[in-house]
Amino acid sequence: MRSVITGLRGEAGFLYIAKARELARRGVDVISFGVGQPDIPTFDHIIEEGKRALEEKFTGYTETAGIPELREAIAEYLNTRYQAGVKPDEVLATTGAKTAIFLAVAAYLGPGDEVIVPEPSYPAYPETARAMGARPVFIPLKWRGPEHGFELDVEAIEKAVTERTKMIVLTNPHNPTGALFGPEQVEAVLEIARKHGLVVLADEIYDNFVYEGGFRSILTFSGWKDHVLYVNGHSKTFSMTGWRLGYLVAAKPVIERIKRLAVNVYSCPPSISQRAGVAALKGPWEPVEKMVEEFRRRRDAVVEELRRVPGFEVAVPRGAFYVFPRVAKVLEETGMSTEEFVDHLLYSRGVVTLPGTVFPEKAGEGFIRLSYAISVERIREGVGRIREEVEKLLAEKTRR
Ligand SMILES: Cc1ncc(COP(=O)(O)O)c(C=O)c1O
Repeated sequence: MRSVITGLRGEAGFLYIAKARELARRGVDVISFGVGQPDIPTFDHIIEEGKRALEEKFTGYTETAGIPELREAIAEYLNTRYQAGVKPDEVLATTGAKTAIFLAVAAYLGPGDEVIVPEPSYPAYPETARAMGARPVFIPLKWRGPEHGFELDVEAIEKAVTERTKMIVLTNPHNPTGALFGPEQVEAVLEIARKHGLVVLADEIYDNFVYEGGFRSILTFSGWKDHVLYVNGHSKTFSMTGWRLGYLVAAKPVIERIKRLAVNVYSCPPSISQRAGVAALKGPWEPVEKMVEEFRRRRDAVVEELRRVPGFEVAVPRGAFYVFPRVAKVLEETGMSTEEFVDHLLYSRGVVTLPGTVFPEKAGEGFIRLSYAISVERIREGVGRIREEVEKLLAEKTRR
C-alpha cells in the first residue's frame, strides 16, 4: 500500500496506555497520568436521555449536520456563553471533535499547502494535514519558565506565513501544556489571519476546564465568521468520550461545503449520542461545575507534588487537565532522553506519563505530560513514586 497516509503516525497516548495495560496484567499497580479523558462517568441525566432515545427506537440515520434540536442547542450554548451570534445552520455536529478537525483540514488543505502549528501540539492537526499532502510548519511555543509557563510566539507565527499558508491552528486551553492564551494573543492570531486571508482552526474543546481568569473564546471577537473554523465537543465537558460527539462551527457556506464531505465519510453522528448531547447542553450544569472544581483540586495537588521533585520545573497549568513539567535538568544529570526517562518511570515505578516529544516532534523535548484525571490520592501516590525515583537516580549519579 502506498498513499499519502503511508507515513502517518498513530497517537502515542494510545500506545502508552497499551504498555500500561500490559504491565497491569502482570500484576503491577500502575498509576496512569496518560489518559486524556475525565475519570468520572457521563452524568446520569445524559445517560437517561440516551436510554430514552433507544427505548423510542431512535436508531436510524439523521440529518448529516445533526438533528435540528442539537444544532439549536449548540448554537444557544455558544451564544449564551460567548454572545457568539451562531445560527443553527452554522453548526455541523460530528463524530467527536477529531472528526471536526479532520473535516476542517480536509476541506482547506491540499498538496503543497502549509498549516502553521504552534508546538508542542495535539498531534491530530499535523497528522491529518500530512494525510492531505499538506505540510505542517511547527512554531515552538515560548517557554517562559515556571513563573509564566508557555506563550504563543505571535511574531514567529507571522514570520512563518508564506504564499502557501492556508491555516493557523490555535488550541485554547492548550493540550499538552495546560496553558491559556490571553485575549491579546488570540486577537493577534486572528489579525494575522485577516491580514493574509487565512483561516484559524480554533479548538476550544477544554473551554470548561479553566481555573483562572484570562480565557476568552475566539467566538467573542467580531468578524470571527470570516476566518474561524471552530471546534468543540462533548467529550471532555460532559465526560462523553465514547459517545463520539463533537462539532464544527463556521460561516454557513463553509458548513454546507464541509457537510458534503461529511455525508460521504460517515453519514451522520450516532443518533443516540445526539439525543444525549442535547440533554447535556440543556443541563443541569451543576455536575460539570462540580467536576471542574474537582479538577482544580487535582491541579493544585499535582503542581504541589511535582514542585517537590528535584530538577523539575513546573508552570501552573491554567486550563485543560494536563501539566507539562520541564525535566531537562534531570535528563542532563542522568543522560537519559525524554523517552527513556518516561519508560524508566513506567518500568521501575509503574507510573505512566507521556514524553513531550510525541506532541508531535521537537518542541516537547525535555518535557513530560501528566494528565491529572485521577483522584488526588492517586496523584500524590504517583508523583511521590516519581520523586523517589528521581531522588534515587540523582543520588546514584553523585555516587558515581
Ligand atoms: C485538543 C483536543 N482536540 C480534540 C480532541 C479529540 O476529542 P474527541 O474525543 O471529541 O474526538 C482532543 C482529545 O484529547 C484534544 O485534546
